[in-house]
Amino acid sequence: MNKLQRLSLFLSALVCAACQLAPAPVPSTPAPSMDPIRIIAFGSCAEQDQPQPIWDAVIASRPDRFVFLGDNIYGDTTDMAVLRAKYEQLGQQPGYRRLRESTQVVATWDDHDYGVNDGGAEYPQKAASKAVFLDFFGEPADSERRLRDGGIYTAYLDGPPGRRVQLLLLDTRWDRSPLTRVSEAEYAARRQRYVGPYTATTGPDARLLGEDQWSWLEAELRRPAEVRIIATSIPFLQEGSGWENWSNFPDERRRLIDLIVDTGAGGVLFITGDTHRAQFSRWTDGVPYPLWEVNSSGLTRNYDRPVPDQYRVGDIYTDDNYGLIRIDWEKSDPEIHMEIRNVENALVMQQTVRLSELQMPSAVR
Ligand SMILES: [Fe+2]
Repeated sequence: MNKLQRLSLFLSALVCAACQLAPAPVPSTPAPSMDPIRIIAFGSCAEQDQPQPIWDAVIASRPDRFVFLGDNIYGDTTDMAVLRAKYEQLGQQPGYRRLRESTQVVATWDDHDYGVNDGGAEYPQKAASKAVFLDFFGEPADSERRLRDGGIYTAYLDGPPGRRVQLLLLDTRWDRSPLTRVSEAEYAARRQRYVGPYTATTGPDARLLGEDQWSWLEAELRRPAEVRIIATSIPFLQEGSGWENWSNFPDERRRLIDLIVDTGAGGVLFITGDTHRAQFSRWTDGVPYPLWEVNSSGLTRNYDRPVPDQYRVGDIYTDDNYGLIRIDWEKSDPEIHMEIRNVENALVMQQTVRLSELQMPSAVR
C-alpha cells in the first residue's frame, strides 16, 4: 500500500467514524407503535431565514412526535428550485436538526409552504410542490400519500387497544375553492378591529376538502381509537376573525361535525395553526360532545392583535410558542392536558379535559 492509498484509507475511516457519531434522523413514517403515545408537540409558521430557538424548548418536552401544522416554511413561489432551497434552509437550522434526531416529525402544509398566500386548488404548481414537500419530510417512494393523484392528507394510529391515538393530518389546500372577499370599504372598517377580508362561501362549489379526502376521512374515523387528534392548518372552531378558517366554508365545517356524529367517533380534538398567536376554542352547542381546538402559531412569527373569536376560552398568547398534548393514560379516566409553551419552555396557557367528556351521548351513538 503506497502513501496515497494509506491516506485515502485513513480519510475513509474518519468519514465512517463521523457517520457513526452523528445520530440519524428519526424516520417521518415509522411503523405503528404498540407503545401508547403520551406526548405530542405541534406548531406552525416558521420563517426559515430567521433564528429558530424554539426547537430546544420542544426537545426539552421529550415528545413522542412533532406535528408541523403548516407554513412550515415561507415558500411563496412557483419556482421549485426556490422552494427546495427554502426547505433546505429549514433543514439546516441547528435546532431543527436536533429535533429530527430526537423524535418523529410529521407534517401537513398551509398556504405559504404550499406555494402561494391564501392559495387553493388553482395553484399551478401543486403537484410539483407536493413532491418537494414529501421529499423533504422523507416520505417513502411507494407511500399512498405520494402515489395518489390528490392532496397530502394522511393518518397515523399508534398504541394498544384502550390507549390508541389516531393522528389525522388534513390537507386544506389541494381542493379548496376560491375564498370570498368583502368589499374594500368593508375591509377598511374591519381592519380597525384586526378583522380580515374573508366571508362565508356557500353553495355546491364551496369546497375545503375534495371528495377523495372526505371518503378517506370517513374510513379513518370508523377505525377504533380512543383519542383522535385532527390536525388542520387553519382554525376549525374560531369564528369572526375574517381570516382563513373553516368558518369561511360553513357547510364543510358542518359536514365534518356531522361525520363525527355519523361515525360515532369519540375522543376528537383539533390542533390548528396559521394565526400568529395561540389560543384555545371550545364549542358546546350543536355538537355531540364539547369540541376543543388548540391553536398554536407561530414558531417564529407573531402579531399582538386581539383578533375576535366568539368561541375563545381564556386569553391569547402572542410570543413565539408551540403546542403540547400530554395524555395521562394512568388515570382511570385518562386526562388530556392541552398546553401552549414558549421559547423558554414555560407553560403559558393550559386546559385539561377528561377522555370521558369527549364521548358521544348514548342517544346519538
Ligand atoms: Fe397560512
